[in-house]
Amino acid sequence: MSRPQPLIAGNWKMNRLPSEAVSWTRELLARLDRAPVEAGELALIVPYTHLPAMTSLAFGTQVALGAQDVSAHEEGAYTGEVSAAMLADLGTRYVVVGHSERRAYHGEDDALVNAKAARVMAHGMVPIVCVGEQRAERDAGRAEEVVLGQVERALQGLAPADPAALVVAYEPVWAIGTGLTATAADAAAMGAAIRRLLRRLLPTVADGVRLLYGGSMKPGNAAELLAQPDVNGGLIGGASLQLDDYLAIAAAA
Ligand code: 13P
Repeated sequence: MSRPQPLIAGNWKMNRLPSEAVSWTRELLARLDRAPVEAGELALIVPYTHLPAMTSLAFGTQVALGAQDVSAHEEGAYTGEVSAAMLADLGTRYVVVGHSERRAYHGEDDALVNAKAARVMAHGMVPIVCVGEQRAERDAGRAEEVVLGQVERALQGLAPADPAALVVAYEPVWAIGTGLTATAADAAAMGAAIRRLLRRLLPTVADGVRLLYGGSMKPGNAAELLAQPDVNGGLIGGASLQLDDYLAIAAAA
């Protein structure tokens, strides 16, 4: 089977004001108009407050919008939460679930990540399920066991009929925001291990599910990482806030 089309997703985290996001999106779209990025799909994973304006600006372009989290509940008395139905209603395509910062600072576990992913899929959006090991786990030779366990628990009971309905992002925790990157060989090996697990869990769609790498991806290392067979795109934090860097990474896909 041919490789899935790459997805270059910029995770803005808690950065920029909504007004700044509008001018940034206009600039991105103007640059893409002048010099389209051929390979793959672009996505911007932004704070909830930025989604309405950015979604309308990017409607009908090659840029999709995504949220960074979602409630595991359908609706009701959950003050402060945002539901999958609300995000879908705005035209949001992707929702990141289980980012390591949510796991670390908000105590999210695989069962919650699983519930969120199910909610996202039920509303016709695509969960980007994040997994990744800590430095000590890699040093102890347990990286693969930890990551595959996270994938298996996060995908429990999910049965996408279409490979495009699910994305898995491997983000080694020690590489996020540190300037340290997994070697291309390590990213490739983890991608291959996740793919083998998907073939067991979701045999009909496994080969078409996009597997992203995240963790200090930059223009200087993107081409080598993205050339690995089971690295079908990137989840890019810091570098996605610089337009030139984001477009350079997209061009490397
Ligand atoms: P950095 O690219 O800043 O390391 O962040 C990666 C990340 O967490 C994307 O979700």
